Amino acid sequence: MNARINAASWDERFSGEEYAYGKLPNAWLKQKIEELDIPQDNAALFPADGEGRNAVWAATIGWKSHVFDLSSEGKRKCNLLASEHDVEIQYEVDDLATRDFEPEQFDLIACSWFHTPSEIRKIHMPRMLHSLKVGGQFIMEGYHTSQMPLTSGGPKSLDLLFDLDQILSELTGSLAPSLEVIYGEVESTELDESDLHRGFAKVVRIQLKRRS
Ligand SMILES: C[S@@+](CC[C@H](N)C(=O)[O-])C[C@H]1O[C@@H](n2cnc3c(N)ncnc32)[C@H](O)[C@@H]1O
Repeated sequence: MNARINAASWDERFSGEEYAYGKLPNAWLKQKIEELDIPQDNAALFPADGEGRNAVWAATIGWKSHVFDLSSEGKRKCNLLASEHDVEIQYEVDDLATRDFEPEQFDLIACSWFHTPSEIRKIHMPRMLHSLKVGGQFIMEGYHTSQMPLTSGGPKSLDLLFDLDQILSELTGSLAPSLEVIYGEVESTELDESDLHRGFAKVVRIQLKRRS
């Protein structure tokens, strides 16, 4: 699927009044981000944050939240959610595969359910991690390959789902900066985000720290 068609399908999903994945942050991202000491310059990037629930919540606890995402409808919904919480989000409609990433810009990069075709993921996710500052952290949750038969959300394509060893080797490989694996697990969980993400699920959870 090319980026324009992909963007149109996300725009359609986000065009209603309801929030497709709810207005609350992803529970695992929230837990991990709450454990961090917020640094003074506190810049965080939420790639593919859709309707902005993670970025908005993080802004309410003091992070300067930035988002890029394919969807202009996502940006519109994020701005509405940000106004409800009286915070501001820097949101750019943009594509992971073509975006320029400034080096060493963010203390935190965090994403939930950011699934892209493997040929894009393996090059551009590690490229994105160069915008972490030294000492900064990357936190993500996504659906594991064993999610395929389950009905609690996620893409029905093995290529889009995460294999833990594969994604860890991509994210810490030669295209990425030097990163320490703080956490990397396949876990069973009970999701309760929205009708699209509810019930027993198999997920990959990753936390990395930039070393140099
Ligand atoms: C399942 S939604 C998750 C949204 C959000 N992270 C959340 O948990 O609420 C996937 C998001 O990925 C975005 N996305 C997919 N491919 C992308 C790409 N190549 N570049 C930027 N965003 C992308 C979509 O627009 C969509 O907002």
